[in-house]
Amino acid sequence: MPLFLGICGSLRKNSYNAALLRAYEVRLPPDTELEIASIDDLPLYNEDVRQVGFPLPVQRLREQIRRADALLIAAAEYNYSISGVLKNAIDWASRPPDQPFNEKPIAITGASPGALGSARAQYHLRQSFIFLNAFVLGQPEVMVAHAHQYFDKSGNLTHQGTQMTITHQLEAFRAFIERLGKGHHGPGMGD
Ligand SMILES: Cc1cc2nc3c(=O)[nH]c(=O)nc-3n(C[C@H](O)[C@H](O)[C@H](O)COP(=O)(O)O)c2cc1C
Repeated sequence: MPLFLGICGSLRKNSYNAALLRAYEVRLPPDTELEIASIDDLPLYNEDVRQVGFPLPVQRLREQIRRADALLIAAAEYNYSISGVLKNAIDWASRPPDQPFNEKPIAITGASPGALGSARAQYHLRQSFIFLNAFVLGQPEVMVAHAHQYFDKSGNLTHQGTQMTITHQLEAFRAFIERLGKGHHGPGMGD
């Protein structure tokens, strides 16, 4: 069964980005599973610590990324870029040996109460993944603007247009993963 690993760029309990990942979860391709990584227990990156050995939460995250067929990353936008917690997680996971983002299919999404829906953060995220040689889906992009109007008080995505865009992105992502030959966990995705 293909396994997606979701990474949320916000640690907030009522995070729109966490709610957005839940909106993906209920629209996954058949037989696909979404596991959510926890990045709230990672220490701040310190090269001296890495020289001694990856801390356990980092080892766990690297293993989760390695095991996943694909990643789904929800980028919270902080000061026109990605959040520090997301960057910290990527920095830890990205270190050699065998950095696990290499050739990993990745779909990027994100939500913000602002008018651009995390667009600037998403493009910064793409930039990091160029260096890490990940395979990032180009289109469709999902940038959920005015998030406070698009989710209800319980965190359910109520905006129909966004629901459809998510479905379209997931369909494109599934085809992308198949073209890359990366859905290794079982028969072809959706079979
Ligand atoms: C430090 C900080 C900087 C922010 N900068 C931006 C920004 O540049 N653009 C934007 O659209 N929203 C910005 N916001 C608002 C966040 O998008 C908003 O808090 C959003 O709810 C965060 O995502 P979450 O709901 O998943 O926690 C910022 C919030 C914080 C705390």
